[in-house]
Amino acid sequence: MTLLQADNPTAQLVDGVMIYIFGLSLLLLLGITIVTIYFVVKYRRSKHPEPTSEVDHSIVLETLWTVLPTLIVLTMFWYGWTNYVGLTEVPEGAIEINATARMWSWQFEYPDGRRENRLYVPANTPVKVRLRSTDVIHSFFVPAFRIKKDMVPGLETYVWFQAPKAGSYDIFCTEYCGAGHADMVTTIEALSAEDYAAWQVADAPPEHRGLVVMREQGCTGCHSVDGTPGIGPSLFELAGAPRQVEIDGQITEISIDDDYLIRAIRAANDEVVQGYPAMMPSYDETSLNNDDLQALVNYMMGRPDTTTAPALDGARLVEINGCTGCHSTDGSSSIGPTFQGIGNRDITIIREGQELTRKADAEYLLRALVDPGIETVKGYPDIMPPSDYLSPEELDAVVDHLLQQ
Ligand code: CUA
Repeated sequence: MTLLQADNPTAQLVDGVMIYIFGLSLLLLLGITIVTIYFVVKYRRSKHPEPTSEVDHSIVLETLWTVLPTLIVLTMFWYGWTNYVGLTEVPEGAIEINATARMWSWQFEYPDGRRENRLYVPANTPVKVRLRSTDVIHSFFVPAFRIKKDMVPGLETYVWFQAPKAGSYDIFCTEYCGAGHADMVTTIEALSAEDYAAWQVADAPPEHRGLVVMREQGCTGCHSVDGTPGIGPSLFELAGAPRQVEIDGQITEISIDDDYLIRAIRAANDEVVQGYPAMMPSYDETSLNNDDLQALVNYMMGRPDTTTAPALDGARLVEINGCTGCHSTDGSSSIGPTFQGIGNRDITIIREGQELTRKADAEYLLRALVDPGIETVKGYPDIMPPSDYLSPEELDAVVDHLLQQ
């Protein structure tokens, strides 16, 4: 076994400094101990009843024992600093993933918008993880890669690493963050190139229908979707954007909305964006049906696709949003009440100091998710964070799921 893992770059950086400082300290400790013992034996009183010399100072020795240790400590600092800088320099081509910590769960958001409570990465590829906290200070710690960084609310930090081979690596929260701190554990799942490709395709969100239509109709030949100029105006960040358009020779300022986009497609040259030629073909219902037109408008306005979006899976939402970190699904006691049998169960809640018993129906469950501070279940602390990171549709899916438990 070699001391430094060449295929684990962040561990190599940290271990290099660790071995250097520890090794040098060990050498000095041994050296000083041996010299001390030697002097104790050699100058023991039975052999030298009288002091042998009366030297009170030595410029050479004093200079040496000041300068040498300073130089040694400076090499430790220099080596430590350069390797610390290496931990902040993300190699080019790194995959970027957003990590969110909240009491008491982890969530990872991938470039395609997918969210998971485990960090899936390809092995042997640098990965940059942007770290964010929504509530208190947490800390992201992966012992295998020697990376550890605090996650402070309002401050974005990052780490990077490269998994040396496929496998599972532990992630711990290493800053005490409340009752569920010890449960804030998850894993990095490093996958082989083939497994990672398969994971990316498996239940990946389907492509927006509007973008498909745009390509089928050839719109992207003249209009970019990323803001670069083309023959026609770019279709980048359109919602509400102001445009100078020419209507019957008059320049008018409009702001982009659904109606404008529909007019601009159905009767392309009635209103022409200033600075562009009036050469866009109009699309009537035979060339572009109303469903496709709506998908196209949704896409351009930055709205999700309503035609191909898969049904939301409440069970999955509960898992990837960390709910199960505090709520068991098997009836066992945890930080919060168990989800087992929660649907329409009679529960005793405390609201404004009053105890009352009611049914955990849809209305109650939704309120408990959105505004958990209003009432708490008797016997449990008032510590649940509001689920304000879920969309209304996601909240409905979670409530539906809970009602069936
Ligand atoms: Cu989060 Cu400790």
